[in-house]
Amino acid sequence: AVETTLSIIKPNAVAKNVVGKICDRFEQAGLQIVAARMLHLSREQATAFYAEHQGKGFFEELVGFMTSGPAMVMVLKGEDAIARNREIMGATNPAEAAPGTLRADFADSFTENAVHGSDAPATAEREIGFFFPEGICERTR
Ligand code: CMP
Repeated sequence: AVETTLSIIKPNAVAKNVVGKICDRFEQAGLQIVAARMLHLSREQATAFYAEHQGKGFFEELVGFMTSGPAMVMVLKGEDAIARNREIMGATNPAEAAPGTLRADFADSFTENAVHGSDAPATAEREIGFFFPEGICERTR
């Protein structure tokens, strides 16, 4: 089915100037960018976005990293977009990411793993609403 999913190009990837390369991977895979914004997350936003991880050992490092510089938040749309995006990204831990995936190519560590993608339809809906409460642009082609 056609789905939408939230993608974040994280601060380490923005700092490396590979936003265009990453967007190209999505487009080459048939995913459309239907919303996009650059933003520097506040501590409040990062804490709310990652609420499910609050209390875990890596939480402070995660929030510190995600607020360290600008990120690009996007909505990707396409057939099986949630799973397709996760394939393109590779494993969360870059040490386990398959060759040719975004994390294999652009991650610096488990925390600085270059990209985020929603993991399921309910998560995608919540995450898209979090960053794009105004809704997304409908593309007809
Ligand atoms: P992401 O899935 O985009 O959002 C949560 C992030 O927390 C995840 O990417 C990793 O960067 C980070 N993370 C998850 N588990 C661990 C872990 N065990 N150690 C360090 N970082 C982690």
